[in-house]
Amino acid sequence: MRMVDVIKNKRDGKVLSKEEIEFVVSGYTEGSIPDYQVSALLMSIFFRDMTDEEITHLTMAMSQSGDTIDLSEIKGIKVDKHSTGGVGDTTTLVLAPLVASVGAAVAKMSGRGLGHTGGTLDKLEAIPGFEIEMTNDRFIELVNKSHVAVAGQSGDLAPADKKFYALRDVTETVDSIPLIASSIMSKKIASGADAIVLDVTTGDGAFMKNLEDAERLAHTMVRIGKLANRQTMAIISDMSQPLGNAIGNANEIQEAIDALKGNGPADLMEMVYVLGSQMVVLAEKAETLDEARKMLEESIASGAALEKFKVMVENQGGDPRVVDQPELLPQAKYKFELPAKESGVISKMVADQIGVAAMLLGAGRRTKEEAIDYAVGLYLNKKVGDSVEKGESLVTIYSNRKEIKDVEAVLYENILISETGTEPKLIHKVITE
Ligand code: URA
Ligand code: CA
Repeated sequence: MRMVDVIKNKRDGKVLSKEEIEFVVSGYTEGSIPDYQVSALLMSIFFRDMTDEEITHLTMAMSQSGDTIDLSEIKGIKVDKHSTGGVGDTTTLVLAPLVASVGAAVAKMSGRGLGHTGGTLDKLEAIPGFEIEMTNDRFIELVNKSHVAVAGQSGDLAPADKKFYALRDVTETVDSIPLIASSIMSKKIASGADAIVLDVTTGDGAFMKNLEDAERLAHTMVRIGKLANRQTMAIISDMSQPLGNAIGNANEIQEAIDALKGNGPADLMEMVYVLGSQMVVLAEKAETLDEARKMLEESIASGAALEKFKVMVENQGGDPRVVDQPELLPQAKYKFELPAKESGVISKMVADQIGVAAMLLGAGRRTKEEAIDYAVGLYLNKKVGDSVEKGESLVTIYSNRKEIKDVEAVLYENILISETGTEPKLIHKVITE
């Protein structure tokens, strides 16, 4: 087989065969096919698209390009959850212990990634002592013992995706639904879960800026999951403003603890219950979504979910006393309020730009090497649809530097106050096929 023929076929709009796709993925991973040829193919895919069969072949080839994790020693159905990205997304921190507390096995492998704030792993590391590195055996042991573990990806998972992603990044081919769908699903499939719940975000703070694209991405990933024999479903959620009130690392841990105590912000709780109910049903711990939701609500009310969080923290070397002693979490030196310049209703809080403000404080990293400051972050005192009086605080800013004019400027520019504003719809759709 010759790479030029594969490029020509896709350039001319033909459907690539399984053999052609496997040839490209293995050749590129081992280095026998050069970047420039793969670049040409990626751009052809960008313009010509792929069928579900092609996307599934691409996904499976990438998922088998390196190590795969075997979770068969964990009893029961293992459920995983993945979000295509958001700002202040505290969901996983609440979901993992909550879903585990009703008996489902949550084996969560996360990457770190770049972003406005840390990923779930970084947020957990804000808890003193918390350890995310562990062997696969230890990971399996913890899930069997306590139904929950959150670990960093060990080994070389889907190396083909890493190479493709780096090349897409510099050839303007990231924004392609077949390439995004196969990238995400290849990693999920390689990490061994039986059931996958996807949160496809849409809006300013998300990869998919509009609902139509988000829907297509969600349908595509659900179909790939099923073709790969994984129970898969997706929701499409709004990420035009950040989720919940806290954006950062230690403060998102605090927000998760509050949520597990029954005092979480309404939007975060709605996400948690909708995604969590799906996970519980996929794990066959409840027959209907209503029954699952009741179980989750009861687990929060009884304290069982919070107890599971403590167990998870303790299992992974962290200090469980953070649950009742927030002062044990990293604390910022300074606290500032951002007063509203006028009265009215909040009409917009541009999610990704608010995320940038958190990153400027040091809550996220721009390059892989950068360190995260766990203590800093933002607390949104108002959300879209809330009314505000001139002088009232819009945002509380936790900072380790005294001079924050840059942060304030970004926030003022991206929090709009008008005469009217309505709360955005949080969950647009649930997609099961
Ligand atoms: N997240 C991924 O893992 N891959 C993509 O291509 C886009 C988002
Ligand atoms: Ca949040």
